[in-house]
Amino acid sequence: MATGRAIHVNQKPVILIVGASGQVGTELQRSFADAGDVTAWERSVADLFHPETLRSLIRQLRPALILNAAAYTAVDRAESEVDQAMTINADAPRVLAEEAARLDATLVHYSTDYVFDGSKKSPWVENDKPNPLNVYGRTKLAGERAIQEVGGKYLIFRTSWVYGPHGQNFLRTMLRLGRERDQLKIVNDQFGAPTSSLVIANATRAAWDKTLTITPEYGVYHLTCAGETTWYGFAQEIFTQHQKRTGEKIPQLTPIPSSEYPTPATRPVNSVLSNEKLQSTFGITLPDWRLALAKVMGK
Ligand SMILES: NC(=O)c1ccc[n+]([C@@H]2O[C@H](COP(=O)([O-])OP(=O)(O)OC[C@H]3O[C@@H](n4cnc5c(N)ncnc54)[C@H](OP(=O)(O)O)[C@@H]3O)[C@@H](O)[C@H]2O)c1
Repeated sequence: MATGRAIHVNQKPVILIVGASGQVGTELQRSFADAGDVTAWERSVADLFHPETLRSLIRQLRPALILNAAAYTAVDRAESEVDQAMTINADAPRVLAEEAARLDATLVHYSTDYVFDGSKKSPWVENDKPNPLNVYGRTKLAGERAIQEVGGKYLIFRTSWVYGPHGQNFLRTMLRLGRERDQLKIVNDQFGAPTSSLVIANATRAAWDKTLTITPEYGVYHLTCAGETTWYGFAQEIFTQHQKRTGEKIPQLTPIPSSEYPTPATRPVNSVLSNEKLQSTFGITLPDWRLALAKVMGK
């Protein structure tokens, strides 16, 4: 008999991954492969720029878990594409939250360290007041708020400085530039925690597994690798590990202030996030960013 709920006794949960071709989406397909009956949607199947079209797709699928890894992530371009970024990062997540609530499904959504203005001297906690400095951060904060307004079973994981084996990211850019140039100038006055797509996907799976045994407090959680560095420190570690593995010549790195590398979007000075809430609620401890980097570089 149909119960109207998304999980049926003795059936594998239907799991939907939205944004399946992105860095995190790709790794979620791996980490959730044996967690249920997984459907992965790319932009060609579900376009978040047209949020209302998502409703009928979701109603047909009836997932117990929606993992939303899709986002407008072009931080600098967002400054001139405000409406597009707002639709994808805020309007679409609202629709996903409404449809999840309708099915009593869980929604996992990702947000960013860029909701903060960087002014705090210590790691940011979930209850700190957001004050985004750029359009991307404003749209991601609007997405968080839209989901919170809808309510229901949602987990918003704020992460930072995402990189991994796929897609466009700082690691891959550094390795490419390192092959092309002898010298690189890298910003050394923004602090954060590089977090790999592997770590994010594995931690998301661990949190989901935990929700099957406990009812967590639904809400916002910080989910970043341990430790902190600057972009310059991240680049140094990338090239040090790369040289150890390959013996290849590496470029000379010069630390510079952000003022010498102007970008359309302003970035926060300190966007280090505290993971204590994730640890105490889900028992998840994330690795130091250097260890996580070694895992990705070893792939
Ligand atoms: N990247 C970072 O440094 C960073 C930092 C903090 C938080 N986050 C958050 O972490 C999450 C995952 O980020 P990521 O690094 O994995 O991003 P990503 O690699 O840029 O992937 C984003 C995904 O969203 C999809 N997408 C964009 N517009 C879409 C649309 N209109 N309809 C459907 N799909 C669309 C992209 O599809 P296409 O492949 O077709 O373009 C891509 O698959 C996001 O919520 C992001 O805001 C990222």
